[in-house]
Amino acid sequence: MRVLVLNGPNLGRLGSREPEVYGSESYDDLVAVCVDAGRELDLDVDVRQTDDEAELVHWLHEAADASTPVVLNPAAFTHYSYSLRDACAQLTAPLVEVHLTNPLSRESFRHTSVVGGVATGTVAGFGLDSYRLALRALTTLAAR
Ligand code: DQA
Repeated sequence: MRVLVLNGPNLGRLGSREPEVYGSESYDDLVAVCVDAGRELDLDVDVRQTDDEAELVHWLHEAADASTPVVLNPAAFTHYSYSLRDACAQLTAPLVEVHLTNPLSRESFRHTSVVGGVATGTVAGFGLDSYRLALRALTTLAAR
């Protein structure tokens, strides 16, 4: 099964970005975790990152048209991007929203996810393990 792992703004800067919040692991480490988990779970994992809302929306259209399951860390777009939510609502296969941190334990503006309501489920707060758990959830869903 093919899976798209999509990452929003500033996640390409993991490792140097606020390490006290996001840890010392880099975006390359995130990619490696997803590819390794994909190998274990027999998934063909395509990991991408963009700072551009339009590009992220286009990738979601691609997933909708191909019925590809998606793991999405919308980053700051989580909290306000209705265009991202509307693109997620068009998906035809499961969507798992992921976060490295637990947004509910952080600033109040992070307590709203406009994406969560159209996701199959959400995994948050486990660092890079959030991605492993999300990929495992997609595998379990596909086996149902
Ligand atoms: C994040 C949480 C968001 O609030 C934040 O804007 C991010 C990363 C996370 O993975 O914990 O960029 O999505």
